[in-house]
Amino acid sequence: MSTSAPLFTGQHVVVMGGSSGIGEAAAAAFAADGAEVVITGRDRERLDAAVARIGGKTTGAQVDAVDPEAVAAFFADGGTVDHLVVAVSGAAGSGPFAQLDLADLATGFDAKFWPQVRVLQAALPHLRADGSVTLITAASARAAFPGTAGLAAINGALQAMVPPLAVELAPLRVNAVSPGVIDTPWWDRVPEEQRKALFDGLAATTPVGRVGRPEDVARAIHLLAANTFVTGVVFDCTGGANLPTGR
Ligand SMILES: NC(=O)c1ccc[n+]([C@@H]2O[C@H](COP(=O)([O-])OP(=O)(O)OC[C@H]3O[C@@H](n4cnc5c(N)ncnc54)[C@H](OP(=O)(O)O)[C@@H]3O)[C@@H](O)[C@H]2O)c1
Repeated sequence: MSTSAPLFTGQHVVVMGGSSGIGEAAAAAFAADGAEVVITGRDRERLDAAVARIGGKTTGAQVDAVDPEAVAAFFADGGTVDHLVVAVSGAAGSGPFAQLDLADLATGFDAKFWPQVRVLQAALPHLRADGSVTLITAASARAAFPGTAGLAAINGALQAMVPPLAVELAPLRVNAVSPGVIDTPWWDRVPEEQRKALFDGLAATTPVGRVGRPEDVARAIHLLAANTFVTGVVFDCTGGANLPTGR
């Protein structure tokens, strides 16, 4: 039986928004594959707990991705980054369009669109020339779920940037993973019974018969970072939930 060396040994991976959910699972996948991983988040206790769960050569840095100076200082203080994953999240901007509070939609952009763009721009001088960037968007950008026009706008704006950035910033590779509904702490804001009913309903209409797990998305992120022949791609990780039904 042949054994292969860990793929990311000696490589530096930064996961912005790595103290929970998808970012944490991605950090764990890279750490298990030999990478030196820095996870970031706003809350020190969450960071420390995630670092302990992930293990390997993982450290945590308290950085608010909404704060331009904090983001710039973080990258200036670190060394060369081989792979960057941006998984910071926001929750604002959803709901029926007729009642959509535009200030809430702007908050959604502030919490997700601008931080992802800001982080990528600040990281550029510190990224390995032929390294990789993986943004995390959302299936709402390419689906037609009622009540998600605002989220579609935020995530669609990010996804639209991926192909031009992949060409403009080459040989740096720029990709995105677009998750469907994934059972992460992001959903803790929904009361447990309501969340269970929602997930059960979604599982019943999703081709693979379940909602996603953070590890599902982590595998997609790992694949995009590892495959040096993939760039400019928005990779759906939805269990088929966003496939057109022809309705
Ligand atoms: N879960 C889903 O169903 C789903 C579906 C589609 C897309 N997504 C996207 O996937 C990404 C990850 O979501 P998730 O479900 O894994 O969420 P999560 O479990 O809530 O994790 C979000 C992570 O981002 C950090 N974070 C949030 N705001 C930040 C900021 N301003 N600066 C630095 N760190 C920040 C959080 O730590 P602190 O709060 O301590 O800062 C945490 O580590 C998000 O972009 C989300 O929109 C999720």
